[in-house]
Amino acid sequence: MNILAYCVRPDEMESFKKFSSLLGHQVTIVHESFSPHNAALAKGYDGISILGNCNANAEAIEEIAKTGVRYLATRSAGINNIDLDAAAKWNIKVSNVPAYSPNAVAEFAVTSALCLARNIKQAIHRVEEQNFSLAGLIGFELRKKTIGFIGTGRIGVTAIKAFSGFGAKMIGYDLYPNEEAKKYIDYVTLDELFAQADIISLHCPLTEENHHLISKENINKMKDGAIIINTARGALMDAPAIIEALKNGKLGGLATDTYEFEVGIFHHDHSKDRINDPVLQELINLPNVLVTPHYGFYTDEAVANMVEFSLTNLRDFETTGVCNNECKALQQV
Ligand SMILES: NC(=O)c1ccc[n+]([C@@H]2O[C@H](COP(=O)([O-])OP(=O)(O)OC[C@H]3O[C@@H](n4cnc5c(N)ncnc54)[C@H](O)[C@@H]3O)[C@@H](O)[C@H]2O)c1
Repeated sequence: MNILAYCVRPDEMESFKKFSSLLGHQVTIVHESFSPHNAALAKGYDGISILGNCNANAEAIEEIAKTGVRYLATRSAGINNIDLDAAAKWNIKVSNVPAYSPNAVAEFAVTSALCLARNIKQAIHRVEEQNFSLAGLIGFELRKKTIGFIGTGRIGVTAIKAFSGFGAKMIGYDLYPNEEAKKYIDYVTLDELFAQADIISLHCPLTEENHHLISKENINKMKDGAIIINTARGALMDAPAIIEALKNGKLGGLATDTYEFEVGIFHHDHSKDRINDPVLQELINLPNVLVTPHYGFYTDEAVANMVEFSLTNLRDFETTGVCNNECKALQQV
């Protein structure tokens, strides 16, 4: 298949070379992010490959449909940046990569929790300023805590297993509880989880129902000093409500790898032009908040998987017309 791959990072080049050759694709690489403004570049290609920070809105989908593109394969798991209704309308088949190494994000959730538990951000800043004092750096041990997992799918279960060695009490909430998770956690209701957890780790997808799940109302149901780990999606949190709760002490900390309005900011170097987002800036400045640039997935293993599996999806569409990772608009399912 003739494929135009957008938003390709240098660390993906080797995998594109290897797997396009193995799967018989001709791939042209562009480094810019996909959006309505450069969709016309796809003229003459059968399929495009994009990433989770590309803007595949209705306008962009219409533009690529006009170029003759029939397939859109995102190299990410998340598809909330793709207008699936528009894709259905224009008869463009969409696929994602739901099953790349879950360990990447799961291990990152553990990393984030430990960094908050031990005030790592403050300690590093101090040492950089030749301040080696301990005051205010006292941490806590996970074994004394209750960890609540919202979403116990592939990443959630892998995170649960990774956390299991610390001896904490572990509880979880999922719309569809699974047997593997039950070996490690007790399922509770969402309100019970909010009431009992000292650490809440988010591992569910963003849906219309759970937009701003971490809201002022739900924060008020939590334990005083609870900490939130968000390696899932930014819009699961109402960031201003979280800032208010962090400032008045209701929440003890936040580690977030995602932000609701991250598109155009995360994965770009803004050190020269500075960002114009006071809410994100305030989060970054708070001492008990870790903001990371949506890179939980970013390991050698996961990146190679993402390129390989997305190109395999396109090969499957081309050769059989069917792909196990096809993403359809809800009314199509
Ligand atoms: N930080 C990163 O780099 C990164 C990378 C990949 C994925 N993610 C995020 O992690 C999420 C989880 O990925 P996964 O591979 O485990 O997905 P998955 O589909 O295997 O699991 C998601 C689980 O969430 C549950 N769920 C759905 N809606 C829910 C709700 N409203 N409340 C509670 N549970 C709900 C599902 O039943 C499922 O068990 C993704 O949706 C994505 O947002 C982040």
